Amino acid sequence: MNKLLQFPEGFVWGASTSAYQIEGAAHLDGRGESIWDRFCRKPGAVERGENGDEACRHYDYWRSDLALAHSLKLNSYRFSVAWPRIIPGGRGAVNTKGLDFYDRLVDEMLRLSLMPNLTLYHWDLPQALEDKGGWLNRDTAHAFADYAAVVARRLGDRVPMWATHNEPWCTARLGYESGIHAPGRRENAKSVNQVMHHLLLSHGLGMQVLRQLVPKAKAGIVLNLEVVLPNSGSVEDKQAAERRWRSENDWWLEPLFKGRYPLEVWQWKGADTPEVAAGDLELINQPMDFLGLNFYTPARVKAGDPSKGPLHVELVPKSPEAEGQAMPGWEVCPYIAEFLPLEIIRRWGRIPLYVTENGMALEDEAPDSQGRIHDARRISFLRRHLVHLHRAIDKGADVRGYYAWSLMDNFEWSFGYRLRFGLIHVNFSDSSRIPKDSAYCLKETAGRNAIEEKSSVLTGI
Ligand code: FCB
Repeated sequence: MNKLLQFPEGFVWGASTSAYQIEGAAHLDGRGESIWDRFCRKPGAVERGENGDEACRHYDYWRSDLALAHSLKLNSYRFSVAWPRIIPGGRGAVNTKGLDFYDRLVDEMLRLSLMPNLTLYHWDLPQALEDKGGWLNRDTAHAFADYAAVVARRLGDRVPMWATHNEPWCTARLGYESGIHAPGRRENAKSVNQVMHHLLLSHGLGMQVLRQLVPKAKAGIVLNLEVVLPNSGSVEDKQAAERRWRSENDWWLEPLFKGRYPLEVWQWKGADTPEVAAGDLELINQPMDFLGLNFYTPARVKAGDPSKGPLHVELVPKSPEAEGQAMPGWEVCPYIAEFLPLEIIRRWGRIPLYVTENGMALEDEAPDSQGRIHDARRISFLRRHLVHLHRAIDKGADVRGYYAWSLMDNFEWSFGYRLRFGLIHVNFSDSSRIPKDSAYCLKETAGRNAIEEKSSVLTGI
């Protein structure tokens, strides 16, 4: 028998996007250059040399895109503001036309009863700031606060939910360590830790600005916590998983929630720890109204070579038998939608949580002769994750909303347009949109505020 699992009253159903991935209009209306515009020009940085110059042309199609979101019975839309549209030089002169765009967008969302959920930084730093050192320069954190104030002054009267950063881990690790994201730098461990510290600091400064200018709004941060699972029940693997959680996740969470870095991790990092000025940690540690969680895949961890020190663990590659998706190495493991919220409660208490991103990449999705896109695998992904998320809520997690990544297919960073995460198909030649079957699945779910649990749906670890 199928059971109908009801989500709490007022549950938020939404879809997420980010500015650089969808907007296009890279050179229009006074937008300045971002680090992604520059990075995409670097030979080999992005597959097929693609870039976000046009992307989904959302800058032109915003109205019909919001209408589509509304037609899917969503009650919220998560988007990001492009800093280089607002302050093209990173600091200083404000570009009113950039603000006007988001002003129209927010008004239309409110007209359609889509609660605006705004992210200030989804990776598109003004290139002018990167030229001065980017996030390795402490001053960038102050520039971020100034930018936050400009956006808050203009949109604060209408936007009820604000996140400072999206996945600062990616900004630091992919942008400044492996260099596979903009600005494409490969810095040493100490510098990467410094970048992370400046990101946290900018969050704290941004929170101050938001509290002052939009005291009634809810404010927080969106993290991609690593969903660490021990690879076996052995004591060694469990200890490795614990060390990994501490070094990758609590490195962010402990300053945010407790105003200190995890002591043992600080010791493990030795000479690589960042410079922390007096007062920084107090600034970082401000009460947040919510924590946004983006999750896609588990990290299965086993004890590595102990001679490499406590920071070292072995990450087990996805086994060929495990269900996968088009994103290389990513495993489909719906159980993480239950595990992660409960793990956060266990470690940090009952914090209001939103799933701010969750989704599945597929390739080569094309409409059939009837113009439909039958993405059965994504439907199955969505349903199973929601069933597990519901279980987390049943077990006490305060999860208040679920945003699918993404509203539509878009520019998937270094993979370009090959990987499609959308509920809505985008034809990048003529910018036409078609809601996929998964979009109708989410519509039904949002409409009923419930998901049917089929006996076949649940999976274990
Ligand atoms: C997340 C990003 C988002 C998108 C998804 C697939 O890490 O926040 O922009 O690329 O992954």
